Amino acid sequence: MAKKIYLYGNWKMNNTYSETEKFFVDFAPAYEPFRNDKNLEVGIFAPFTSLWPLSQGAKKSGIVFGAQNVYYEAKGAFTGEISIPMLKEYGVTHIIIGHSERRHIFGEPDEMIAKKVKAVLDAGMTPVLCYGETLEERESGNTFTVMERQLKSAISGLTPDEVKKIIYAYEPVWAIGTGKTATPDQAEEVCKWSRELIGQPEAVILYGGSVKGSNAKELLSMKDIDGALVGGASLKPAPFLEIYTAYRE
Ligand code: PGA
Repeated sequence: MAKKIYLYGNWKMNNTYSETEKFFVDFAPAYEPFRNDKNLEVGIFAPFTSLWPLSQGAKKSGIVFGAQNVYYEAKGAFTGEISIPMLKEYGVTHIIIGHSERRHIFGEPDEMIAKKVKAVLDAGMTPVLCYGETLEERESGNTFTVMERQLKSAISGLTPDEVKKIIYAYEPVWAIGTGKTATPDQAEEVCKWSRELIGQPEAVILYGGSVKGSNAKELLSMKDIDGALVGGASLKPAPFLEIYTAYRE
């Protein structure tokens, strides 16, 4: 049986409210042929201000949708933050946590990421936990030390059931938005290693970093890669869905 592929789009700080509405004008018919494909789960993660049109479009097409960040407290004096109950009212079920841009541009530490993961799980939602090494860390031979720290910090204290509910996304920082992709072997090596570290053979593990139609087949065919977290190529329906069609060809 063919494996199930998770095709998740991370729009980052792109696609305004009206651009999101326009996205779905094209996405709805383009996605129709895939709608009943049990081996495909499509998800889109938009900026907070685009969550309403995203929720409307996603519900019509029957895809998963979510946010790119959240704060772990439910309410209070946290200027500029968004809470889990706020997102729940929009029907959000999935939230990206610990993306490398949050870690490196906004300085989110492992402890904060762990609290966010726990809060999302406590709310019955799915965290999409990102982790991965920088170029410097890879070149100095620290790839696995860094990732072990990131992963262990996020999952320690969780029950095995909770650990299984997280969707993991290995995203080498040097491959994000750079056009450089990890080779299928490099990506597979880390995803396989992660599965062992997590201790849950059935955990869903995605690869992210410059995934597009032209490299999708070789990456998604690897045994321990369950799907892709896609940035640039997810902003328009055609290149986004092409990732899955390229894999299936
Ligand atoms: P990219 O981004 O596909 O543009 O490299 C991936 C990500 O950061 O999730």
